[in-house]
Amino acid sequence: MLGRSAFVIVANRLPVDRVGEDMWRRSPGGLVTAIAPVLQRREGAWVGWHGAPDEHLEPFEHDGMSLVPVPLSESEVRLYYEGFSNATLWPLYHDVVATPVYSRVTWEAYRSVNERFAVAAAEEAAENAVVWIQDYQLQLVPAMLRKLRPDLRIGFFLHIPFPPVELFSQLPWRREIVEGLLGADLVGFQRPGGASNFVRLCRRLLGMQHHKHEIYVDDRVVRAGAFPISVDFGELDRLVREPHIVERAKQIRSELGDPECMLLGVDRLDYTKGIGQRLKAFGELLSEGTVKPGEAAFVQIATPSRERVEEYIRLRDSIELQVGRINGEEGDLGQQPVQYLHQSYGRDELAALYLAADVMVVTPLRDGMNLVAKEYVSCRHDLRGALVLSEFAGAADELRQAFMVNPYDVDGLKRAMVAAMRATPHDLSRRMRSLRRRVSTYDVDRWAREFLTALETG
Ligand code: ADP
Ligand code: G6P
Repeated sequence: MLGRSAFVIVANRLPVDRVGEDMWRRSPGGLVTAIAPVLQRREGAWVGWHGAPDEHLEPFEHDGMSLVPVPLSESEVRLYYEGFSNATLWPLYHDVVATPVYSRVTWEAYRSVNERFAVAAAEEAAENAVVWIQDYQLQLVPAMLRKLRPDLRIGFFLHIPFPPVELFSQLPWRREIVEGLLGADLVGFQRPGGASNFVRLCRRLLGMQHHKHEIYVDDRVVRAGAFPISVDFGELDRLVREPHIVERAKQIRSELGDPECMLLGVDRLDYTKGIGQRLKAFGELLSEGTVKPGEAAFVQIATPSRERVEEYIRLRDSIELQVGRINGEEGDLGQQPVQYLHQSYGRDELAALYLAADVMVVTPLRDGMNLVAKEYVSCRHDLRGALVLSEFAGAADELRQAFMVNPYDVDGLKRAMVAAMRATPHDLSRRMRSLRRRVSTYDVDRWAREFLTALETG
């Protein structure tokens, strides 16, 4: 029997996590930030996991979206989600900044959970529907879904980087992953480099014919392309002008003791984000006296993430040790240079933090895009505020007027942080105006429109 939705999003996570009887919390991460407003503006359904193990839920409506929960058992959460998705693919696709684990048991779980998502999508989609599959957790779904429902138009978007052939080739199941992706009509990446890596891989690994970014698969053409994702600029720009946000931003600064300069980091607590590197740079600036305690406060918000995966446990310990050291050595009674908060915040509080911060420090070692950088820019209609941005974030392609850094270069990072702290208002407004022009033009709506138009007209 065919389903009822002409437009279906398929992602590992639903936009909300179930945290109790009828209690929902927004799910973490950039994927949900970007896709939720897209679905809210179109009729359609979102197929995904609701964040709790061993629970079967009926489809429901939330915040103007139709949500279709896919269940995962406790063991599937361990093997498919924490295992293959986040201990194998995540580090492999992020330049192996941590060592990927290759396990046949987790691979098997990945395959069978992908099959479940494909079946759920096939049941939800109406005849000739458009189905848009998201991210690295579901790379086998395009081919599985095509087998079940050849009538569908299938798109896939990878939110994280796609690695060069030399790294990808480590994966024992590399062929299956590429064949899975080739089930789509259009495979989207954040950067042109990701699309080229993929096409090269199809040629080298599977010996496929292609012309530029069109790959010939049996009697079909699969296209690969770059579609840099973005944020809801208009919504953030509106939100941050509301009096209660402006008031809260002032209050945050005063709670910090009205420092001359407030630096801010906002990330999931993830080893790809370069949190340790930025703290090291800030600690050295304090210990060598370039920055005086009291002159600057560093606020690091770190959302809890993937807390049972070994590398994340290690990372948390190491960041907390580092924060303790800096505050112990450079702080004073009642005055701590680093405020570290291992918590998740609502949109309003984040907007107020962005508005309060003089310097936003975004230093990933590798990142598909990094929406935090674009959110900061969207919130600074006052044309104040400086963005320090890693050249290894996808956002660096577009946000050229940021203070660019190589996060592995501690001295370079220190210089960029100081330059951002001491930049003249004229320089800051010149940079911010240009950054805002870019993000307001290429917002999340435009991203979705461009991808879906390419998918539907290809
Ligand atoms: P990733 O998708 O890897 O987590 P992004 O920077 O692309 O990285 O997206 C992160 C998203 O999560 C942003 O929309 C940001 O506002 C949100 N976010 C990050 N930290 C927090 C936090 N502590 N509380 C609430 N939301 C957060
Ligand atoms: C990144 C990934 C998303 C993921 C998010 C949060 O944005 O690209 O697919 O949902 O991180 O991670 P989590 O493991 O909590 O879903």
